[in-house]
Amino acid sequence: MNTTRAKWNQKYQSTLPTGEPVPPAWLVTHEELLREHVPAQATCLACGLGGDALFLAAIGFNVTAIDISEIALLSLQQRAEEKRLPVRTVQSDLEKATTCLGTCDVITSFYFLQKSLWPEMKRALRPGGLLFFETFSPAHLQISARPFKAAFTVGSSELLTAFSDFTLLDQRETTTVTASGHKRAVVSIVAQKRT
Ligand SMILES: C[S@@+](CC[C@H](N)C(=O)[O-])C[C@H]1O[C@@H](n2cnc3c(N)ncnc32)[C@H](O)[C@@H]1O
Repeated sequence: MNTTRAKWNQKYQSTLPTGEPVPPAWLVTHEELLREHVPAQATCLACGLGGDALFLAAIGFNVTAIDISEIALLSLQQRAEEKRLPVRTVQSDLEKATTCLGTCDVITSFYFLQKSLWPEMKRALRPGGLLFFETFSPAHLQISARPFKAAFTVGSSELLTAFSDFTLLDQRETTTVTASGHKRAVVSIVAQKRT
């Protein structure tokens, strides 16, 4: 089995939470904007347990949720079925399958940095479509309690340059605290594909 897949499967197998996955605050903050786009198709990249996918499905999106870990996806699929929410899960290695996103109206990418996928993310969004992106910023290297790789961070200038052909609707660089009490320095954007 692919080592990335095995690593994440093991992580989810050992730590599958019993509670509901929490939707990213950056999505919840923009619920009103998102509701202007429903009904529509959303694609959640590297969704993990699918806090983003469940939130979007609950407000009216048809969701495709992609991750390399079938353990995480099975958990998400079960929750979606319990709640009768339209979430389709797809197991895929996004490092290799960089041209597989189809077309959609919203893309979410939380804590997954695969720069080679950015051109496909741009292509896949329909004109007027929204990108919600959040991951670790370089400031995380200073505050992380554990050793952390610079390669897992992106600066706001690089991110904004990469999506400069989109209209930037919102952005932030901030420090958040996870449910388990870990500090994260993050960069977040909402960007809209021009019509
Ligand atoms: C840090 S977790 C973030 C999960 C979720 N987006 C969140 O914010 O809670 C990273 C996720 O990326 C997935 N992942 C890692 N490498 C991947 C790859 N090459 N293709 C698809 N998913 C991948 C992992 O299985 C994991 O669910």
